[in-house]
Amino acid sequence: MTTTQPDSPVQPDSPVQPDSPVQPDPRDAVDGAERSANPYLPEVASCPVPFYEALREQCPVASLSGLANTHILSRYDDVKFALQHPEIFSSALEAVDIGQTRPLIPLQIDPPEHAKYRRVIDPHLALKHLLPLEEETRALVNEIIDTFIDDGSIDAHAAFTIPLPTTVFLKLCGLPVENLEMYLAWKDNIIRPQVRHPEVAFDPDAAKRIRHETGAAIYAFFDEIIAERRLNPGDDVISRFALGEVDGERMTHEQMLDLGFLFILGGLDTVTSTLDCALAHLADDDVMRQAIVDDPSRIPDAIEELLRLHTPVMQVLRVVAQPFELHGIEMEVGDTVMVMIGASNTDPTEFGESAGVGLLDRDVNRHLAFGGGAHRCLGSHLARFELRIALEEWHKRIPHYRVADGAVLEFSPGIREASSLPLVWAAT
Ligand code: HEM
Repeated sequence: MTTTQPDSPVQPDSPVQPDSPVQPDPRDAVDGAERSANPYLPEVASCPVPFYEALREQCPVASLSGLANTHILSRYDDVKFALQHPEIFSSALEAVDIGQTRPLIPLQIDPPEHAKYRRVIDPHLALKHLLPLEEETRALVNEIIDTFIDDGSIDAHAAFTIPLPTTVFLKLCGLPVENLEMYLAWKDNIIRPQVRHPEVAFDPDAAKRIRHETGAAIYAFFDEIIAERRLNPGDDVISRFALGEVDGERMTHEQMLDLGFLFILGGLDTVTSTLDCALAHLADDDVMRQAIVDDPSRIPDAIEELLRLHTPVMQVLRVVAQPFELHGIEMEVGDTVMVMIGASNTDPTEFGESAGVGLLDRDVNRHLAFGGGAHRCLGSHLARFELRIALEEWHKRIPHYRVADGAVLEFSPGIREASSLPLVWAAT
C-alpha cells in the first residue's frame, strides 16, 4: 500500500485540529478495544509519553485510526527488530510520499545497495570535519543571543532554534544563508503544509499537491546547484558528495538530486525541533538545568537523555516486504508500518521505571532517537555538535529561565517542533 503518511527524517503532519479550551488526554488517542490509535492529534505531539504508554500496554500492534493495512509498533524490542530487519520492514519508495518522484537516497534504498551510498556520504559528516567549525559556531550562537539577551524574554523558537542550526547547515552545504526563508518555506510545505497553507488542514489531496509542487521546486533548485558544483567544486559537503564515487564511479546527476532532496529537508528541520524540546524541558526541570549549569561537561549526557525522552522524530515509516506476524496480528506485503521510536524510547522494559522522566545519570541509554540499523541518522554527529555548542553557550549566558507565565506550548506531530517557545529570564 502506498501512503501519504509521514516518513522520517521528514514527516508531514496530519491536519491541525481545532483549538479546544480543555487539553484532551493524550491517552484517549489510543483505543485498546478497537486496537486503534492516532498519533497525529495535537495533544499527543505536545505530551506524547502517556500516549506511548497506553499504546505499548493496550495494543503493541495498533492500526492507524482503524485503517486495516497500517500497523503501529511501539515496544522497544519490536521497534528495534523492525529497524534491524529491512528484508521484512522495507524503506522502499512506497513507504512514504513527501513530494519526491524517485526513491530518496539513501533513505529509500534498502540494504545491501544502501551501504554503497553511506560509504560515500558518511565520511564527510564525520566529527573531524565539524570540529574545525567549533569556534565559528560558538561565535554564531553568541551573536544570536546578543540580539535578545538584554530583553529578558524571547520566542526562542523564532529567534534561536530556527536560525542557529539552519545557518550552520547552509554554510556547511555552501548554500546562501540569504535564501533561508525560501528553504524554510520548502521544508514547512513538505513537513507541515498547514503551517503556511491553513486551508489544506483538512484536505489531504491539497496537502499532497503542495508537497509535489514544492518537491518540483527542490529538484529544480538542486539541478542547477549540482551542475554548478560539478564544474566548480568548492569545499562544501555538496561538492564533496558530487566528487564521491559509488561502485568506482562518480554519483550521477540524478543520484545527487535524490540525495540533495532528502539532505536539505533532514538538515533543516530536526535540530530545530530537538532544541525546542530541549529548551522547553530545561526551562521546567530545575534539577537538570542546574546540573548542567554547574558542570557543562554533563551537557552531552543531557542531550542524549532529552533526545530519548522527547524523541523529536516520533516515528519512521516502513512498508511490509514479506508476510509477518507480531502479537497475533498478520501483516501483509504492502502494508504500512509506523515504527514509533518515541514509544520505544520510553519503554520501561529497556529504560526501567524512570523511563518516563528525564535523568542525567543513566548508566546505559540505548535510545533510538536517531533510528537504528542501516538507516540510522547520518546527520547525528552534526546534530550533536550543534546541540552541544548551543546548550553550552546558552547556559553560560542565560542559566536561569522559564516558560512565560500562561504560555501553553504546542508541538507539531511527526517531527515535534514548537509553534512558539516564549522564554523569560532576569534581564541584565
Ligand atoms: C537531532 C536531530 C536529528 C534527529 C532526531 C534525526 C533523526 C533521524 C532518524 C530517526 C532517522 C532514521 C530514518 C529511518 O530509519 O527511516 C534519520 C535518518 C537520516 N537523517 Fe537524521 N536526524 C537528525 C539530524 C539530521 C541532520 C542534521 C541531517 C543532515 C545533515 C540528517 C539527515 C538524515 C538522513 C540523510 C537520514 C537517512 C539515513 C539513511 O537512510 O541511511 N539528520 N534521522
